[in-house]
Amino acid sequence: MKILVTGGAGYIGSHTVVELQNAGYDVVVVDNLSNSSEKSLDRVAQITGKKVSFYKCDILDREKLDEILAKEKVDACIHFAGLKAVGESVAKPWEYYENNIAGTLTLVDVMRKHGVKNIIFSSSSTVYGDPAFVPITEECPKGVCTNPYGWTKSMLEQILSDIQKADNEWNVILLRYFNPIGAHKSGLIGENPNGIPNNLMPYITQVAVGKRDHLTVFGNDYDTPDGTGVRDYIHVVDLAKGHVKALKKIEENAGLKIYNLGTGTGYSVLDIVKNFEAATGVKIPYEIGPRRAGDIAINYASPDLARKELGWEAENGIKEMCADSWNWQKNNPNGYDD
Ligand code: NAD
Ligand code: UD1
Repeated sequence: MKILVTGGAGYIGSHTVVELQNAGYDVVVVDNLSNSSEKSLDRVAQITGKKVSFYKCDILDREKLDEILAKEKVDACIHFAGLKAVGESVAKPWEYYENNIAGTLTLVDVMRKHGVKNIIFSSSSTVYGDPAFVPITEECPKGVCTNPYGWTKSMLEQILSDIQKADNEWNVILLRYFNPIGAHKSGLIGENPNGIPNNLMPYITQVAVGKRDHLTVFGNDYDTPDGTGVRDYIHVVDLAKGHVKALKKIEENAGLKIYNLGTGTGYSVLDIVKNFEAATGVKIPYEIGPRRAGDIAINYASPDLARKELGWEAENGIKEMCADSWNWQKNNPNGYDD
């Protein structure tokens, strides 16, 4: 089987390409490199020993996508391409709706023209808003998103679901990721944020490597055991493997399916700091600051459905997540720019 991976040069995409190649799939990557480097794909080839077919292409470019699909004859698409910075989405909503929604509509239209009606979509636990209950099952009602990025995920879930309902030749799997961290064991690929990181783990690793002097903890007055926010952190390699399992489900004519990809365990910000220090031996100075707008207190998954229906379960614990994040950062202090 040949798989089109949009956004395959990015953080989760590059790790997924490794797992797809290891599982014997042929992979074609389409990425406009707006938030990534083609070097990630050279590193993927170093890990797997297989070259990756790569097209520098924007998913909004209908003609180029059409040419690629005519040539490559793919069977399914794993769709990672999208803009993902929460704060930026508040400042640039039009750009987020255009890129993520118009981009996905264009992609799906070109796919169906070529008879490719299998898609796995990168959604997010952000669609639950402030969740009605934890652990969050897929039955938990979707909530009010706090930013345009989140709304693009929520709206695209609806759009792809409606497309599948109208034409049951489509297989649509919506994967709701919790908080991916970590990196490939080789230390060759990992998360490479532009500028000041928004997310916790890349911020911590940049403090550890000396690029930032301390972490600011966004609030310690939440209704959680130590007052800091609780999240379900998942190793990116486990997340990547979840996509390979989802592809198997697609091959069984899944129809429309939704799965949480998380571990089921919540860790607070201070738990992460302590675990990072224990796993790496590097001290992380921190200060308590005010809450960040839009943050919620607690969010963690029930991963039961993915375990039952996909036969997937996260294998790495917090120690591996911290150690592998650090291994990537210390070997590549400037990401792919070294
Ligand atoms: P990333 O930015 O590293 O990867 C996204 C890739 O898509 C980048 O390589 C970027 O260049 C590419 N891209 C963006 N717009 C494009 C376009 N119009 N045409 C072609 N390529 C385009 O992000 P990631 O962390 O790997 O996330 C992958 C997907 O998973 C995204 O859709 C993201 O919203 C979603 N997601 C991520 C997280 C997370 O915490 N990282 C959580 C939930 C969901
Ligand atoms: C955020 C987004 C979510 C997105 C995800 C991955 C919001 C509301 N949610 O999730 O939509 O899918 O990123 O891109 O923005 N923290 C600090 N100090 C820091 C950074 C983070 O204390 O410098 C805390 C946060 O308050 C939170 C936890 O660490 O409690 C995790 O934050 P982060 O990594 O940004 O992920 P989320 O906020 O869960």
